[in-house]
Amino acid sequence: MNFETLRKSVAECRMCELYKTRNALVLDDCDEKVDIFLMGEAPGGHEDTVSGKPFTGDAGKNLRDFLRSIGLSRNKLYIGNTVKCRPVKPSPRGRYKQYTNRRPTRQEIKLCSKWLFKELEIIGPKVAVALGGVPLSIVTGKNTPLKDFHGKEIFWQEKKLPVFVLYHPAAVTYNPRLKETYHRDLEKLKEFLTKHDIGNI
Ligand code: URA
Repeated sequence: MNFETLRKSVAECRMCELYKTRNALVLDDCDEKVDIFLMGEAPGGHEDTVSGKPFTGDAGKNLRDFLRSIGLSRNKLYIGNTVKCRPVKPSPRGRYKQYTNRRPTRQEIKLCSKWLFKELEIIGPKVAVALGGVPLSIVTGKNTPLKDFHGKEIFWQEKKLPVFVLYHPAAVTYNPRLKETYHRDLEKLKEFLTKHDIGNI
């Protein structure tokens, strides 16, 4: 499968109900030369209704700031969400289209990981970074406590891929006390990239 057929297949996907409320198909621009694959959770309102690209809303701003703090440029990475369509719940106060975001269900995560795996095959990165508990659950195959794994490297046996685990960038918005921990983890991410021969970030 190449990127164009992936895009078409995801656009036609009816494996779960999320396509019914989806506006944009949120996929990154394909770049098979990047070594680092960042795995996110799912698109939010801005990604779904405005940009059609991962991490362009509030969490995206945090992510960009974090990457900049360790000198990692956006064009060195590919970002793939574990769930491709925005998981929503109706809310009259929703900022985007009368909906607010919700965490994807276990079933949505399981079904949609099929597309994440195809993206990984197409991009063929040297390493991956799991942003939060949702992508981490795909790597470990179960609900895994993030507090035991953040700032650490694990090996994804099934994909033969080293994975570094970070909190989701939105976590510091909800819990500002995590900021210090996040910065310590980012320093470890830098060491992880060097260890895997990814220089010139
Ligand atoms: N936006 C995304 O694209 N993914 C996330 O995980 C969060 C916000």
